[in-house]
Amino acid sequence: MKKHLIMLLLLAALLLLSACGGSPSADPEYTAPIVVGFSQVGAESDWRNANTRSMQTALSAANGFRLILDDAQQKKERQITALRNFIHQGVDYIVLAPTTEDGWDTVLYEARAAGIPVIIIDRMIYGEGQIGLDENGEPLFTCWIGSDFRTQGDKAVRWMEDTFGDEPLHIVHLQGNYGSSAQIGRTASLDAGLAANPHWTLVARDSGDFTQAKAQEIIGTLLARGVSFNVIFAENDNMAYGAIEALKAAGLTPGVDVHIISFDANQRALEMVLTGEISCNVECNPLHGPRVLEVIMQLERGETPPRYTYVEEGVFTIDGLTQDIIDSRGY
Ligand code: AHR
Repeated sequence: MKKHLIMLLLLAALLLLSACGGSPSADPEYTAPIVVGFSQVGAESDWRNANTRSMQTALSAANGFRLILDDAQQKKERQITALRNFIHQGVDYIVLAPTTEDGWDTVLYEARAAGIPVIIIDRMIYGEGQIGLDENGEPLFTCWIGSDFRTQGDKAVRWMEDTFGDEPLHIVHLQGNYGSSAQIGRTASLDAGLAANPHWTLVARDSGDFTQAKAQEIIGTLLARGVSFNVIFAENDNMAYGAIEALKAAGLTPGVDVHIISFDANQRALEMVLTGEISCNVECNPLHGPRVLEVIMQLERGETPPRYTYVEEGVFTIDGLTQDIIDSRGY
């Protein structure tokens, strides 16, 4: 820990130097980086890739880290194996971006027994009984940084209510992978919207696993069957891209014949908001690397980071959106 603290103080000095116009360089005398095992969900979406890049940039060798990245290909079992490998290797920290909310208790007990701090990012996990606590009320992980997915969903539903008023909506719902916080929160919001708006009809609901290909297939199949709808509630941008492809292939105009509501606000999707193909895009910010770096620095200094950090996120529609805004965003 002390060794790392020195390294981080050095890093802070180098960053300060860099901010003052100097250029940071690695300390040639220092050879022991902070080792972080990062279990990533997969590479299912642009969001996920931006998240991975953010982590790699923040926890880089130049910043004094050795990052061991494990891509679980959207499989929880692979993540549990990766965590056990990290524990076996004796990493300094574990970062977990969990596929689903449940099923982590045993391996988190193992990490705790090994004295390895675990930082959860993006989606939430549940401990036994309470969120993130064991049966004795003890924390199963050190801290969590991520999004409030229910709030994101509520923002989308509020936009639909404000925009469409009493107009009948026939909605196709493209869900993320079942059991993930992003799916659970956004789905709960749409369900609440459906209950509160009797003129909204759920025409179809299926999981596209947050991927473009599956979403394109789902929408293509519905259109081929002659199912008609005027709204697609896509639980991420990549599924919106797939839906747009399928609509266009069927001769329909996204944003005119069918309105698309999406989540993430990747740059590519915001370009589609500008062209009118996506009507509303709720931000889900993937740039957790610097946030994790800050938490590790706090832990190295012996401080206690906040247990839960929710990222502030906005909503994008064509109103007020410009190319400059899109270009200035980090993903
Ligand atoms: O958990 C965040 C979600 O996971 C993003 O909305 C989605 O694009 C990603 O795959």
